[in-house]
Parts: sequence; C-alpha cells; structure tokens
Amino acid sequence: MEAELSQEVVENSLAGVLFVSRALYLPSTTSTNDVLKRLASEGAPEGTVVLADEQTAGRGRLNRRWVAPAGSSLLFSILFRPSASAQAHSPLAYTMLCSLAVRDAVAETLGVSIGIKWPNDLVHDGRKLGGILTEISTDARGGGYVVVGIGLNVNWDPSTAGFDFPATSIRNAVGHPVARADLLRAIVERIAERYAALRAGRSPVREWESALDTIGREVAVELPGERITGVAVGVDADGALLVQADDGLRRIIAGDVRVRDSAVAP
Ligand code: BTN
Repeated sequence: MEAELSQEVVENSLAGVLFVSRALYLPSTTSTNDVLKRLASEGAPEGTVVLADEQTAGRGRLNRRWVAPAGSSLLFSILFRPSASAQAHSPLAYTMLCSLAVRDAVAETLGVSIGIKWPNDLVHDGRKLGGILTEISTDARGGGYVVVGIGLNVNWDPSTAGFDFPATSIRNAVGHPVARADLLRAIVERIAERYAALRAGRSPVREWESALDTIGREVAVELPGERITGVAVGVDADGALLVQADDGLRRIIAGDVRVRDSAVAP
C-alpha cells in the first residue's frame, strides 16, 4: 500500500534533485498548470514543482479536460526558465524532454515499456495513460518561462471511466499498484538530466522521433476545415510532424492525429 501524498512526502521524494527549487503539494486545486503559471508570473524560481492529488479543472491539449479521481494519479507541473539559448528551442522541446523522461522512468523503475504518440500522449498497448501540456508565457519583467504539466494515470482503471478514447494506467500496465512518490522522483530526476542536456545545446528531437509510435504509421490529421491522410514519415527540427500525403509532404504543427491502424485516439 503506498503512503498517501502530502507536503512532507512530496518534499522528501524530491529532496536532493538538483533542479528542484521548491515543491508544493495541494490536496485539491483547479489545475496545477494554472497555479504554477500564477506563481511564475509572481517570480517563482525555475524548478518549482506543483503537485495536486485532485484537480477540479484539469486541462489537456486543445482545451480538453483532464479527469482523474482524487488520489489516483500523478498530476503535477514544473517550471522552466530557459536561458536565451534554450529559449531558441521550440516549446515542443519541453514536451519532448518530459515525455522521454516519463518513458525512461517507467521503463527503468517498473520494467514496462511505454510509447509516445505525437505530440504529447503517453501510451501503452494502444491506450492513453498520460499526457503533457506545455505552456509558454512571459512574466512581468519580460522573462520567458515554460510550464510543463504532466498527467499520468497511476492507480486507477480509466478504461471504465467512459472516455471517448481507449485509456489505461500504470497499474494496469505493470499489474500492481505503484508508489506515486517513487515514480514522481524517478520522473523528475530524468527531467533534470534531460533539461541539463537541452541547456548544453543538445536537442532531444531525434531521440524523441525514434521513440514516437506515430512514425511509419498511416495517420489522419484533423485540422480546422481540413482532414489530411497519409503516412507519418518523421518530425522536423522543431518537432512538427511530417506527413506524406497524396498531394505532397505536409508539415503539421498542431491538430488531432489519429493513427489509422491503431485504437489510439487523442
Ligand atoms: C493532454 O493529454 O492533452 C495533456 C494532459 C495534461 C494533464 C496535466 S495534469 C497536470 C497538469 N495540470 C493540468 O491542468 N494539465 C496538466
């Protein structure tokens, strides 16, 4: 049985991770991204982490809701304040480094291989088990910051939740409940390492491209007023998806991508 999360448990789990400057645990809040964006606008330092046991207004990409029962999941956000050189990277670089960190943490600590679906989904066995919401903004002093929110279904069964896409959890994938505090630490440690590499000028884009389940698959992309079908052939330096369509190579920067030979939906 895992220990319940609390301010003390979260602080202890992140103690000694060099990147982490402050960890804030909230039993319930609207959205950890919204809380952290407010703290960032008030000057919170890089490495601030906000984690909630429950969100009443959790958000996903494309204004979708992110729903998880209280105490069931990892719902947290991390603040980056990139230097000018790291700001030159696309915001997707932060989604990339965080999704690769989650993938590695789950593989290395739980022995289960999870996939990444362009641009921000974490999947197992064709089902979504997590997602990443990256938001960039500027504070009152003109400093750019990046808030990355990570939602990971951990100890519950979302397959019965009535979502309109196939969903799963870490517990389903691993076969037993998982201590969320340990998984949190494993993820944030790997984010810290990967962020150091990004700051040193190493883009995660090619590693991320090889990790994407989407590449080499037939996809259908829903854009406002247009539907593109074709084969996802890779990503460019910014992480945009390259789709070989009948009328040529298309570059997708946003939109709903469905892998046509798999059950994974948004
Ligand atoms: C997606 O799949 O579109 C992204 C989901 C991101 C959900 C997380 S939960 C923690 C953080 N707070 C939010 O409101 N959203 C992110």
